[in-house]
Amino acid sequence: MERSLSMELVRVTEAAALASARWMGRGKKDEADEAATTAMRNVFDTVPMKGTVVIGEGEMDEAPMLYIGEKLGTGYGPRVDVAVDPLEGTNIVASGTWNALAVLAVADHGNLLHAPDMYMDKLAVGRESVGKVDINAPVIDNLKAVAEAKGKNIEDLVAVILDRPRHHQIIQEIREAGARIKLISDGDVAAAINTAFDDTGVDILFGSGGAPEGVIAAVALKCLGGELQGKLLPQNDEELERCKRMGIEDVNRVLYMDDLVKGDDAIFAATGVTDGELLKGVRFDGSKGTTQSVVMRAKSGTVRFIDGTHSLKKKPDLVIKP
Ligand code: FBP
Repeated sequence: MERSLSMELVRVTEAAALASARWMGRGKKDEADEAATTAMRNVFDTVPMKGTVVIGEGEMDEAPMLYIGEKLGTGYGPRVDVAVDPLEGTNIVASGTWNALAVLAVADHGNLLHAPDMYMDKLAVGRESVGKVDINAPVIDNLKAVAEAKGKNIEDLVAVILDRPRHHQIIQEIREAGARIKLISDGDVAAAINTAFDDTGVDILFGSGGAPEGVIAAVALKCLGGELQGKLLPQNDEELERCKRMGIEDVNRVLYMDDLVKGDDAIFAATGVTDGELLKGVRFDGSKGTTQSVVMRAKSGTVRFIDGTHSLKKKPDLVIKP
C-alpha cells in the first residue's frame, strides 16, 4: 500500500466526523450514524484504491451504504480490504458524551478477519504488556502481569470496561484485585487504543463488545505495537453457524493479532467526533470546523496526529442545522 493512502483515508474519517458531530446531544443516534455513513461513503469515491468492505454497516440487503462486499475507491490503486465504523459510539453522540470516533482500517486484500456482527470477548494492552497477558487467565493474573510490565502496583492500574450487567463478575474481580476501573457507556475501540497511550490513563481493556470493533481496534494496536486478544461469543445457533462458515470451528479458540489482522500492511485512521482522552471532538465556529485525527501504518509504526481546519463555506451541507 502506498504511504500517501494514509492522508487520503484521514479525509474520509474527517468527513464522517464533521457530518455526525452536528448531531451531538440531539438524542438521535440513527441520524448521527446516517450522516457519518453518507459523508464517509462520498469521500471514499475519491480515494485511489480498489477497496472492498469486509466490515461495514451490515449485509447488502440491510444497509444502503458501506455494506459488506461493496466496492470502494476510484478502482485504481492497491487492492485492499476495508473495515469501517463511520460512527463508533452512536449513543455517545446522541448524548454528547466521551470518545465517539469516526474510524476505519484498511489492509491488504484477504488480511482482515471478516468478523461477523456478534459479541467478542476482548483483552487489550499496550506495548509493554505484549505477550504477558492471556485472555483465558484469571483477571488478577493479567493485572499482575501488566503491573509488572509497566513497573506499577496493581492499585495504580486503571482497567477500562463497558458498563454492562454482563460484566458484573469481571468488575468484581478487578475491584477485589485492587485495581482502579473506568466504566464506559460505549466505545470500546477508543478504550482499546487508549491502553497503548500512557497519557490516556488506562492500562488494560477487559470485557466483551462488538466483534467488528475488535478487528478495527486490533489494526490500531498492531500499528502501536500493542495487543488485542479476542474470543467470539456466538449467542445462538445461527451465530455459531456463522463462525463455522468463517472457518472458526472451535469458538473457544483465542484470536490473536495475526488472526485478526494478518501481516503488517495495514493502516488505521480515526477522527474524534466528541472529546476523548486521545482525540478532541469536532468544533464548529461559524464558517469553519476543526477536527483532530490519528492515522497510523503498521508497516512503519508511524503514528501521526493531524489537526484539520475545514472551510464550511465549501461544505454547505455541514452548515445546515439538523
Ligand atoms: P455503536 O456505535 O454501534 O452504537 O457501538 C457502540 C459500542 O459501545 C461499541 O463500542 C461496543 O463494541 C458495542 O457497542 C458494545 O455493544 P453493547 O452495547 O451491546 O454492549
